[in-house]
This record gives sequence, C-alpha cells and structure tokens, in this order.
Amino acid sequence: MTELLRMCGISKSFPGVRALSNVSLSLNAGEVHALCGENGAGKSTLMKILSGVHQADEGDIFIEGKKVSIDNTKKAQQLGISIIFQEFNLCPHLTVADNIWLDRQPKTGPFVDDKKLIEKTQQILDELGLSINPKALVRSLSVAEQQMVEIAKAISFNSKILILDEPTAALTQSEIDSLFNIIYKLKAKGVGMVYISHRLEELARIADRVSVIRDGEYIGTYPYKEVTIDTLVHLMVGRELNNKYPVYQRKIGNVLFEARNIASNKVDVEHIQVHAGEILGIAGLMGAGRTELARAIFGADKTFHKEVFVDGKLVEINSITSAIKNGIGYITEDRKKDGLALNMTVERNVNMAFISNLCKKGFVNESAAKTNADKYINSLRIKTPSMFQKTRNLSGGNQQKIVLAKWLCNDIKVLIFDEPTRGIDVGAKYEIYELMNRLSDNGVAIIMISSDLQEILGMSDRIAVMCNGRISGVLNREEATQEKILRYATGLCDEEGKGA
Ligand SMILES: Nc1ncnc2c1ncn2[C@@H]1O[C@H](COP(=O)(O)OP(=O)(O)OP(=O)(O)O)[C@@H](O)[C@H]1O
Ligand SMILES: [Mg+2]
Repeated sequence: MTELLRMCGISKSFPGVRALSNVSLSLNAGEVHALCGENGAGKSTLMKILSGVHQADEGDIFIEGKKVSIDNTKKAQQLGISIIFQEFNLCPHLTVADNIWLDRQPKTGPFVDDKKLIEKTQQILDELGLSINPKALVRSLSVAEQQMVEIAKAISFNSKILILDEPTAALTQSEIDSLFNIIYKLKAKGVGMVYISHRLEELARIADRVSVIRDGEYIGTYPYKEVTIDTLVHLMVGRELNNKYPVYQRKIGNVLFEARNIASNKVDVEHIQVHAGEILGIAGLMGAGRTELARAIFGADKTFHKEVFVDGKLVEINSITSAIKNGIGYITEDRKKDGLALNMTVERNVNMAFISNLCKKGFVNESAAKTNADKYINSLRIKTPSMFQKTRNLSGGNQQKIVLAKWLCNDIKVLIFDEPTRGIDVGAKYEIYELMNRLSDNGVAIIMISSDLQEILGMSDRIAVMCNGRISGVLNREEATQEKILRYATGLCDEEGKGA
C-alpha cells in the first residue's frame, strides 16, 4: 500500500478562532478517506491548507514520503493535489472545455487550437463516462453536471490526490450514484480521495477509513468497517445523541394559510392549506416542482392566477415584498445565492430581514441590532468569533444558520423551509428541528420541503407528495411510510391532483 499523503500536527488560527490544533491525516493510493466533524470543526480549513489556499501555522505535509511546502494553489496542482470546493469555482460564462483547460488550452502559435481542445475534453469526459457537451456553457448545466466538470478538471491535472468537500449536498440520488461510479473508477486507478460529507449514511458505500475532528482537535482515525453511524456521531459531537428528532406533542390550531389554484409554468396545485402550529412536509423527487411551488406561494415567480388566504383573509401576493408584508417567509434552498450578503458581517445578515423594525427616523438602532444578533447567535449556536466577522469567513453550515436566523427574527405567520438541514451537521440538525417545534408552539404554520425522507417522516404532521408539478397524494403522519411516499413521488400512485 503506497502512502500518498501524510499531514502531521497541523495547526491553524484565524483572528479570534483556533480552527485546527495538532491535526493529522494520512491517505493511501486508491483509498477514500472520509473526514467527519460538525459545522465549523475545521474540515474545509484542513483541506484548504492541503490545497495551498491557506498556510498552516504549524505542522508538516509529506507527499509520498517527501516533505513539501504548499505555498499556493499552483504548487498544490503541481504536486498532484486537486480540490473540489464546497462552493463551486467554475466560470459560468465559459464552455466546459475552456473551464477544464483554463489557461492551459492547447495552442497552435498564439491561437487556441479549438479542435484539439474539444478532443482532449471529450477524452476526459469519455473516460469518466460523462455525457456532457464540451462546448456547452457551464451556466447552462445542472449543479450535478457542474460538479462533474469540476471532477473532470481535477482529472485533467492527473491528480493523485483528490479532495471532495461535500460533493453530494446538492445532488439527487441518481446523480450521487453516478458520482460514486466515478469515485470507484478513480479508486481503481489508484487516486486517493479525501471525502467530506454530512450525509453519514452514504459513507458506507465508499469510505475505507474515516477520521474525525471536533472543534479543531483531532479525535481519531478508524477503518470504516469498524465504526457504526452512532459511534461516528458520538465521536463528532462528543456527547450522546439518542434521538434524531425531538419528541413533541403539537397543538394544531385553525387553518392559518390557504392557497387555491396555484398555477405557473411549472406547477399546478389546486389547493393547499396549513394550520397554525402544523408542519406540512412536501416530499417529492428532484424536479417534482417543490421549490417552484414554494416560489409561487412566496410571490417570487409569476403565477397565472391564485387565491391566498392568511388567517382567513384574502391577500394579494404578487411579489416577495407583499409576501413578507403578509407574514409569509421563505428560507431558500440555495442560501448562498438568495440568502446571504457574504461580505457583510454576521450581525448585518442576521438583522437584514428585521432592519425596518430596528430603524428609528432612518437610523439603525445599533444597540437593539446587537442585542437581536446576539440572541440568535446564541440560540442557534452560530460559531463565530464575533458578530462583526464577515459572513464569508464562517464555515458552510454556520452560514446556513444565519439564513435561518434572518427569518426567525421577523414577525412571521407562515414559514416555508426549503431543505432546512442540507449541509448541516447532525447535532445542529436537532437544534433546527427543535426550533421548528418552538415556532409551531408559537402558532406558526410551517411548510417544509425536504429530500430527506427520514426528516419528512420525523417532523411532518401531514405530508404532501409532489410529482410532475402536482400534488399526487397526501398522507397523515400515522399512515405515512417511506414506501408510500415513494409510490406517490414516482407517479405509481396518483390521487388526481388532489390538494393538501
Ligand atoms: N478565512 C477565514 N477567516 C476567519 N475564520 C475562518 C476562515 N475560514 C474558516 N474560519 C473559521 O474556522 C473554523 C473552521 O471552519 P471550516 O470551514 O474549516 O469548518 P468545516 O468543518 O468545514 O464546517 P462545515 O461543515 O460547516 O463546512 C470556523 O470557526 C470558521 O468560522
Ligand atoms: Mg466546510
């Protein structure tokens, strides 16, 4: 077994945060080494050090037994290390081929040799079994395809070490399957991979070993076969987590939200209603129209004609502003794009949706803003050295908690959660579920879209299943099973567009 990589005693601090202290990791050829830890544990930071984005304060890195210094990302590439970041790094307005060979395009004289460029690209795509057009613009591709292009790019450098930072967060099951097939192929070729994911269940299919870090400290490395998910969770959070979902008795009130005839280009839903204190889960496969339904309700997309009632009163919702004015909130699925101003502070982001309430005569009441931000940083356990940290510098999961906080401090009657726990670690998931329960206790009507069937079953009072833009079935908590949901979701069962 060839050892490709050894990182020893790595420490790294950022102003106010000790992100890593004395962490070690090794990687063999043909191995998938899973790296686990809660949000903010230091996983991405360790990998950014390996890929030359950050430099360690202490510690050594050895590649195939030779000590190296990785001062920048180019150096990492030369050493055969490629990283696929949690956030994508492609140029959306360039083609697939140009993205893969950026600054390295084959040339005849001073000009790019287009024919050769396409050939070389096709060769890599074929090798990975990808049917993507090399001439397609990256922005026209799905998230999954963009991910595959990132991998193709990594392969084009003949990387021996590939780092995948939460590669499946935005992928559907079949896309995950094709990603795993690529991982198997790379394994067979002797590529070593470090794999970061919060979806612990999927690790069983690919991981050879797993290492855990907690709060920047190295906990240990284990052969994957020797750990169970429960032990892993225990190692990650450092405490026993017995229940995945908080036990809770809901008090369901009157109908608080009702909508009729929600029809847009992508959805056609006759009727949907949610009671005060109720959680209506929306299940369905990717592309079933769940997010489109949410956007239509929220006034983000044009609908042909719809009637919305909040608290029994007919209201007009034709824009996001009118939705918010009527007490409807929407926590989006794509938090990076829709949800956050990354260059602003944590404090400003938390207070963003709340800002009008914090203003007096056009000025922000700074002390009220601080108190408010403090409250939500504590209650959601947002890990940041201070509320004045730039949001960009927080770990992925902690950024997501800020998006939640943003809405929670608004006076909201109806709240739509779109994939509320995607990219969030097991411990923090529980906190988000508790928070939903608290909201429901306060009489908020919650619509929760989720691809995680366990989560749908664990949290919903009723479940509406979508297929092809319509609601194909509605299940009560007592009667719902994973199987029944899937039957509706795949169109095997259909109650003729019945409402929820
Ligand atoms: N550029 C930076 N400046 C300041 N602090 C940073 C920076 N990058 C990371 N941190 C901090 O270092 C700690 C570790 O962050 P890191 O992104 O490595 O976590 P992670 O394990 O990848 O978490 P997640 O699962 O949420 O992605 C966090 O407290 C984070 O806020
Ligand atoms: Mg991360």
